[in-house]
Amino acid sequence: MSARPVVRHQYDAVIVGAGGAGLMAALQASRRCRVAVVSKLYPTRSHTGTAQGGIGAALGNLEPDSWEWHMFDTVKGGDYLADQDAVEFMCQEAIKVVYDLEHMGLPFNRTPEGKIDQRRFGGHTREFGKAPVRRSCYAADRTGHMILLTLYQQCIKQGVEFFDEFHLLDLLLRDNRCSGAVAFRLATGELHVFHAKAVLLATGGFGRMYKVTSNAHTLTGDGCAVPLRRGVPLQDMEFFQFHPTGIYKLGILITEGARGEGGILRNGRGERFMERYAPTLKDLAPRDMVSRAIYREIQEGRGIGGKDYVHLDLTALERAVIEEKLPDIADFVRTYLGIDPVKEPVPIQPTAHYAMGGVPTNLDAQVVADARGTTVAGLYAAGECACVSVHGANRLGTNSLVDIVVFGARGGRHLAEQAASLDFAPLPSEPEERAQEELARLCGGGAESAAQIRQELQQLMMDHVSVYRVEAGLQRAIGAIASLRERYRRLGLQDRGLRFNTELQEALELGCLLDLAWATAAAALARRESRGAHSREDHPKRDDANWLRHSLVFLSGDALTLDTKPVTITRFQPKERVY
Ligand code: FUM
Repeated sequence: MSARPVVRHQYDAVIVGAGGAGLMAALQASRRCRVAVVSKLYPTRSHTGTAQGGIGAALGNLEPDSWEWHMFDTVKGGDYLADQDAVEFMCQEAIKVVYDLEHMGLPFNRTPEGKIDQRRFGGHTREFGKAPVRRSCYAADRTGHMILLTLYQQCIKQGVEFFDEFHLLDLLLRDNRCSGAVAFRLATGELHVFHAKAVLLATGGFGRMYKVTSNAHTLTGDGCAVPLRRGVPLQDMEFFQFHPTGIYKLGILITEGARGEGGILRNGRGERFMERYAPTLKDLAPRDMVSRAIYREIQEGRGIGGKDYVHLDLTALERAVIEEKLPDIADFVRTYLGIDPVKEPVPIQPTAHYAMGGVPTNLDAQVVADARGTTVAGLYAAGECACVSVHGANRLGTNSLVDIVVFGARGGRHLAEQAASLDFAPLPSEPEERAQEELARLCGGGAESAAQIRQELQQLMMDHVSVYRVEAGLQRAIGAIASLRERYRRLGLQDRGLRFNTELQEALELGCLLDLAWATAAAALARRESRGAHSREDHPKRDDANWLRHSLVFLSGDALTLDTKPVTITRFQPKERVY
């Protein structure tokens, strides 16, 4: 296949991804330098738009609250693996950033006296664990959607330039310095080389490696896999969160806000089973515990009718609460299940939701290349594709929206300062060479089907690398992923055209998922303990003596290597997690 046409651009800063982290970074950076946002989607379709239940901030609008309690809950919720300097900054900054969003026009729900309303959410407590607290600031069950629209409007006002439906293919990295990125334009098939003083990755997660997931089809981890292939490690990949309440079989998210408003989980006997697993917080325990409890109920034969799901019971809620505070999830349940949640319980199962791991960064969102903390000049990451690490081994609900706006903003500001003082690093002589080769190889004419490989991968990850894990299953998964990667090299595409070649795009995405699934399974095999979302049935206890460490995965050619680095502990020493 002949080489694709190449178009070149030069910007001070390029942000890859137009969800909350990318838009916030672009907004901040655009106050000081010329910024382009390169996004696989139209910005308002980014996955931030599906975040439902709220953004956590200790405003104390309905009852006393403090950022220290928020910090404690985040550290404990993350099973003490989070870096506490980062968590402290995030929880302090959350308060300011929520008011910033309010001032930009975000339509939060209000209390009768006009303050931002707040609801309960899993793992958020007052007085260091005594009882649930109202900390989640929300706009019905469309909080992420409202953040996205608010930030997009601000970016447009600020003159940020958008390259929509551009797919990231490569990062230009040499001698620990990033000089830009290469993308392909879906509409034309052209390659676009973006020469930049700094690049910030904000491409979201990679839940599409699992069969049952709350993640959109586009969540394939491109912004994690591309730097991994360029020698940047990934951190804490073994920690993948399953949200307890996905619609049965479909995985579509039913917000934790539904339990925050009073919804209850019930097993096949009608029991409120969370009372047995988390006597204080019950249904509002952190997600790792609730998901494990649901699996246990099912394994022990107490699923609904002995099947592999339980019920989320909202029938005790007033109709007005459901219609006004949870309108989207009520709509999903009516549309996809034909059930009225006001009158009938909703069948749910845990759904792959959130990657705690990702591209390691420091507090300024600068990408970190090794266990010693060496930064990659001109390369940044923020949001779910990054690991700063504020979520440790298990993220609390509402903290993803906090993370994206807090570290998106900080990264955007730092990147703009750097861009003001740095010159453009020279581009390699043929910056698009690697991308051209990859596209040519994919269009080369093998016999394997991307759809088939993806389906097998998703089932494999569901069977062996989900809520519960054991050594034999993880080894099996790693072996099978190796053979799927081998088959991937022999893909055959039916569409060899340039324009809107979505088959090619899906093949590229599958390549990312395969690499990230390998990294996830390898890190999960290495970690011989149970912590947060990583639950090893063969190593059921947390082992701080050996494993109070972050993991790092490096990819070099066809070899993965692992390393670890220390966790930053400041205020809260690890303790047993009791809820
Ligand atoms: O349950 C939810 O509304 C999801 C929120 C989150 O993942 O933070």
